[in-house]
Amino acid sequence: MARLTNKGNWEGVIREFRAFLPEIREDAITTLKEGNTPLIEAVNLRDIFGGIRLLLKYEGLNPTGSFKDRGMTMAVSKAREEGSKAIICASTGNTSAAASAYAAKAGMKAFVLVPEGQIALGKLSQAMMHGALVLQVKGNFDEALRIVKEITSNYPITLVNSINPFRIEGQKTAAFEVCEHLGHAPTFHFLPVGNAGNITAYWKGYREYEEKGMIASLPKMMGFQAEGSAPIVIGHPIENPQTLATAIKIGNPASWQGALDAVKESGGAIEAVTDDEIIEAYKLLAAREGVFCEPASATSLAGAIKAKKEGVLNDGDTIVCTLTGHGLKDPDRAIASSQKPVKIAADTKKILKAMGF
Ligand code: F0G
Repeated sequence: MARLTNKGNWEGVIREFRAFLPEIREDAITTLKEGNTPLIEAVNLRDIFGGIRLLLKYEGLNPTGSFKDRGMTMAVSKAREEGSKAIICASTGNTSAAASAYAAKAGMKAFVLVPEGQIALGKLSQAMMHGALVLQVKGNFDEALRIVKEITSNYPITLVNSINPFRIEGQKTAAFEVCEHLGHAPTFHFLPVGNAGNITAYWKGYREYEEKGMIASLPKMMGFQAEGSAPIVIGHPIENPQTLATAIKIGNPASWQGALDAVKESGGAIEAVTDDEIIEAYKLLAAREGVFCEPASATSLAGAIKAKKEGVLNDGDTIVCTLTGHGLKDPDRAIASSQKPVKIAADTKKILKAMGF
């Protein structure tokens, strides 16, 4: 049957990028049609960026509202192919939401370990609704990750954190999409860094596209951590990471070396931004570009603004900021960061007055 447009019936990242991914048996493929997210031109931030072309890779529009779906379709499909009946992960929220949804689709059991009281409401509600066993650990993400590693080395449960190589394979498809949409690689690619799987995956994707002759140049990879949670920047693990960007509140990233390699090989950098800078970027995106992302996601734009101020970027550069998760994931932070609604009587005159007429 003819398609309405060539991407009119997007098949999900495994089928769309089959030639670039490890093989998976057709009947094991578990997809919610993730990927094909928009690359949005940020035209209203020219006062900040001048002659630099800024694009937003809006990963919040994936099926569970974050980039994690790209890796989870691979990890869960592979687990299913191998006959696994259950998956487990530690998570600051988004991985748990994706794992729970894809496990539901695959008819598998999901166990998710999240730091108690430290994950955004939307993410918690997703894991609960998809029927995962949600274990709220009295500890932080790093402790939860240590426990799931211990469990999976002793029990037949598949680990779906990004130390599972199939997660990285799936996530690299976002780099392919950026190249397809632009027709070339950007000059710089900005990303938030938490457990550091995503920056590792993007770099792998860009390199593979270059090796296959799909792009002629590679971007400089720019990773940003939150200041109170920046182990890679300071060079050692942090016992008690702090940031209001809970998604990246991680003190000992699993893909530490992958992030360092990406930055070194590409000639990029890994730096920190403050929580204030993250919230500023979060608000700018919502108020000026109409794009609602979660706080951690805005770390990429906060990083780009910092790089611009420091003179790292030049007019004519094309830069991409990945916005990793949807703003609706964290309604509490959104409400705390905006103007309060006006309570008012059901009275036209009073309402017009409040409107400034
Ligand atoms: N942005 C969001 C919204 C995230 O959820 C994460 C990671 C990151 C950025 C950082 O990506 O870990 O690959 O460097 N969230 C993980 C989770 C840790 O459990 O959902 P990373």
